[in-house]
Amino acid sequence: SQYQIAVIVGSLRRESFNRKLADGLVKLAPQDFSFKQLEIGDLPLYNQDDDNNQAPAVQRLKREIAASQGLLFVTPEYNRSIPGVLKNAIDNASRPYGQSAWAGKPAGVIGASVGAIGTAMAQQHLRNILAYLDVPTLGQPEAFIHAKEGLFDERGDIGAASKDFLQAWMDQYAAWVKKHA
Ligand code: FNR
Repeated sequence: SQYQIAVIVGSLRRESFNRKLADGLVKLAPQDFSFKQLEIGDLPLYNQDDDNNQAPAVQRLKREIAASQGLLFVTPEYNRSIPGVLKNAIDNASRPYGQSAWAGKPAGVIGASVGAIGTAMAQQHLRNILAYLDVPTLGQPEAFIHAKEGLFDERGDIGAASKDFLQAWMDQYAAWVKKHA
């Protein structure tokens, strides 16, 4: 397909709501988009000593980002910020200095949380990081998803209560990626 999107899910949990949200969003995307969830659970803890000898998992992550036309971050909020595993992935793929894989890739930021504010603070922190990394992020619509009963239907699709909202979000996201392609 024409637009390959790298999906970065900020949770390693097997039954992650955010992974399910990512899977549900993919089904709302236009035909000319394809999506790949990037593995971040096998990355080493970032260590600047390794900058000139990056682990195979880091090289793979950077290759997959480079091959994409856009990024989709779907993350929970941990202690009012982004999970460490996500920051670790961002740090790993941002180095060595001058060889960041992230720069210029258009991104969407979204997340689901069992808390009432639906990852609002984590998303703001993530936007700060991405601004520094020269990643243009979709500003509107914002999407703070409350992970509650009915968010997904029995087939794992986005449930009726959130479907129209998330379809509109995906439409804007797709337009954002195309605008920067
Ligand atoms: C949480 N959770 C949470 N929720 C929230 O809305 N704000 C927060 O700051 C936190 N902090 C937090 C810290 C840690 C270490 C954990 C494990 C959890 C709850 C969180 O929303 C819930 O566990 C989600 O289910 C996590 O997303 P996944 O794994 O289902 O995608």
